[in-house]
Amino acid sequence: SKQRITVIPGDGIGPDIIDSALKVLDKAGCDFEYDFAKAGLAALEETGELLPQATLDLIEKNKVTLKGPLTTPVGGGFTSINVSLRKQFQLYANVRPVLSFKGTKARYENIDIITVRENTEGMYSGAGQVVNEERTQAEAKSLITRDGAKRIVEFAFDLARRENRKKVTAVHKANILKTTSGLFLEVAREVAKDYSDIQFEEMIVDACCMNLVMYPERFDVIVTTNLFGDIVSDLCAGLVGGLGMAPGANIGAGAAIFEAVHGSAPDIAGKNIANPSSVILASIQMLEYLGMQDKAEKIRKALTEVIDSGDRTTRDLGGTGSTTDFTQSILDRL
Ligand code: NAI
Ligand code: MG
Repeated sequence: SKQRITVIPGDGIGPDIIDSALKVLDKAGCDFEYDFAKAGLAALEETGELLPQATLDLIEKNKVTLKGPLTTPVGGGFTSINVSLRKQFQLYANVRPVLSFKGTKARYENIDIITVRENTEGMYSGAGQVVNEERTQAEAKSLITRDGAKRIVEFAFDLARRENRKKVTAVHKANILKTTSGLFLEVAREVAKDYSDIQFEEMIVDACCMNLVMYPERFDVIVTTNLFGDIVSDLCAGLVGGLGMAPGANIGAGAAIFEAVHGSAPDIAGKNIANPSSVILASIQMLEYLGMQDKAEKIRKALTEVIDSGDRTTRDLGGTGSTTDFTQSILDRL
């Protein structure tokens, strides 16, 4: 039977760029069955809920989801849908690859970095959030567990091995955050011993940011805790031309959600000018996850040709094409 994929078009530019990705997948001959599901503002308007149970059921059932960006309304006490999804399905690994394309306005060439961000613990665990009544003092708890650190570092090394990569850099702040970051680094060192075929490097997060800007070509796979991973991965997106070029996979034991790193971009929504590369690259990650390497390569090749040649690319890449022009340019090459 055909592989079923849950598709959440999402808000803002989401439906346009997801439509583009689905056309590309179909043209490449992927032959998936899609179950469409609602979340975010689109779901709130229709069902009164940001994350309806029917959507959760479909994510659970198909195990693989392609997701557009979702708007979390400000105020009203809504918790971030993305944080909810990551918790609910224990999507502990957030994998964010960035790769240089010649036709972008990026300052660098030859960048090929994957950030593996721990997605459920650390400063974003939500634990111990307190503000006193006078609002003169606030606190939050950072939680790192040995098991959590072990599984994310092992995930990074396994990925490095699978993709023939040379080096894993553990990014930390163990010199100051001696307990939490200290435990993470301790576990990373232990895990590294089991992967003697891959080089292991440690780097303090602030130095890492400087080195990423000065010598980005020296990096390969980065593994780090939740907060550092959030920041470092956006820095990496900036090295290759911005958010339009940055995909991310949220992977757990029982489910995986593939998405763009960026949000719903309300400033350009409905204008048919969004760059669909982010979700097309997320689709490539999805194909690789499903073991469909040949299709992934085929799409990557077509996308690369379009971006390198500048044929009908979107304006964030320096072109004048619309989202649909850009998509057609890729379809023409498939
Ligand atoms: P954003 O990422 O939506 O936009 C930031 C800037 O990047 C904007 O100028 C936008 O036009 C541009 N941009 C983003 N994607 C682009 C693309 N594919 N092509 C061309 N330009 C692109 O961030 P913002 O405005 O802070 O957030 C908007 C909404 O998105 C918020 O409601 C936020 O909560 C939500 N959000 C959702 C995420 C998700 O679902 N994974 C992640 C981040 C934000
Ligand atoms: Mg972020």
